[in-house]
Amino acid sequence: MDFSLTPEHELIRESAHKFGQTVILPGLRERDREAKSDPDVLRKMGEAGFLGVCIPQKYEGMGADYISLGIVCEELERADTSIRVVLSVHNGLHSMTILQWGTEEQKKRWLPDLATGRRVGGFALTEPNAGSDASNQKTTARREGDYYVLNGQKAWISLADYADQFLVVCRLAETSAKAPYAAFIVDRNTPGFSSRAIHGKLGVRAGNTGELFFQDMKIHKDDMLGGEGDGFKIAMCALDHGRYTVASGAVGIIDACLDACVKYANDRTVQGEPIGKKQLVQQMIASMVQGREIGRVLYYKVGWMKNTGQRHTKECSMAKWVNCAAAFDAANKAVEIHGAYGYCDEFPVERYFRNSRGAMIYEGTHEIHTLMQAEYELGYRSDKPLKHMLPTWPFAG
Ligand code: CAA
Repeated sequence: MDFSLTPEHELIRESAHKFGQTVILPGLRERDREAKSDPDVLRKMGEAGFLGVCIPQKYEGMGADYISLGIVCEELERADTSIRVVLSVHNGLHSMTILQWGTEEQKKRWLPDLATGRRVGGFALTEPNAGSDASNQKTTARREGDYYVLNGQKAWISLADYADQFLVVCRLAETSAKAPYAAFIVDRNTPGFSSRAIHGKLGVRAGNTGELFFQDMKIHKDDMLGGEGDGFKIAMCALDHGRYTVASGAVGIIDACLDACVKYANDRTVQGEPIGKKQLVQQMIASMVQGREIGRVLYYKVGWMKNTGQRHTKECSMAKWVNCAAAFDAANKAVEIHGAYGYCDEFPVERYFRNSRGAMIYEGTHEIHTLMQAEYELGYRSDKPLKHMLPTWPFAG
């Protein structure tokens, strides 16, 4: 077993860390207060190559391995969750799913623009009545000649107002396929498409979330990923990538909590000594360190499984489940250590507390992952070979 990171991994960590400090953090408190995204950050992420980290160079990506994507998520979420969400949706749920399921023609058509940030991709699975019960899709696709006509509504969609195209999962109105689902890449400029932002979120306020509406939207059959009947599996594969980015990003929240708490515990004195000398504060710091170290091992393992072409749904669910809970716990402790200062946005820890709560809901709730882990152990669930696997790394060609 080799646990060492390569010099390329270290380099990418350093450049992502610098990007967080110099591009994401300035003005973040105001953006979070005003619930505003900064499209300039997205543009700079594209220029830096972060929007195509593990997309092969032949599709204009950086060509780095899947562990590198995790490292970028960790470092960018150390600065802000809303930016890691961009990586989850654009890189994980959208681009990597095209890389896994697209035909060569589709990959050539879509990946170069996505990998460079010329276009931004989103993911549309969730509906008002299809959250954990993801197969309860009410959005329908009805075949008409060379087209499918889409009607329906999606909810809680990240980048709803920004993404140029969405991976949309829906139910086929008529099909002979056993599982009546399909997945399409849908351009937001298609007639019949509209979006609306959701306001008043507890966290991830500097990020855009909204609803999508499809009214008699005609999508060409060539824009379908996989075939009729593959839609649900494609959605689940997408989540294997999205959950990986959430799990690695969660470690970044713990890093950020430790950054803030170590500084505060050394600066703040009570009864003539820094509060870092108090054992109950030390206990909380130690618990955060524990979460960070376990979290890294869990996500590095998933990255390695992706690199080596293994099914990893179980391990990815585990990493997401454990790391998001550890991040929320760390953020809660960080507020505790900061006392009253942790309760206002003069210090960043209240933002970590609000942001880390969301990750226990999206990309599979804490309860869904609890059930999945129990089902694997009881023998009720297993990961079977797939029709299309993610390409192994190093990439061919
Ligand atoms: N990869 C490929 N195939 C998979 C798979 C995976 N990861 N997981 C399941 N499948 C396959 C199964 O093998 C099965 O195939 P067969 O029919 O051939 O046997 C098929 O898909 C159905 O699988 P299940 O029986 O597991 O389906 P289920 O209905 O019992 O699913 C569930 C249960 C796992 C809980 C699933 O519904 C689920 O993950 N729910 C949570 C949904 C979720 O995470 N939503 C997040 C939305 S995105 C988001 O939040 C991002 C954002 O923008 C904020």
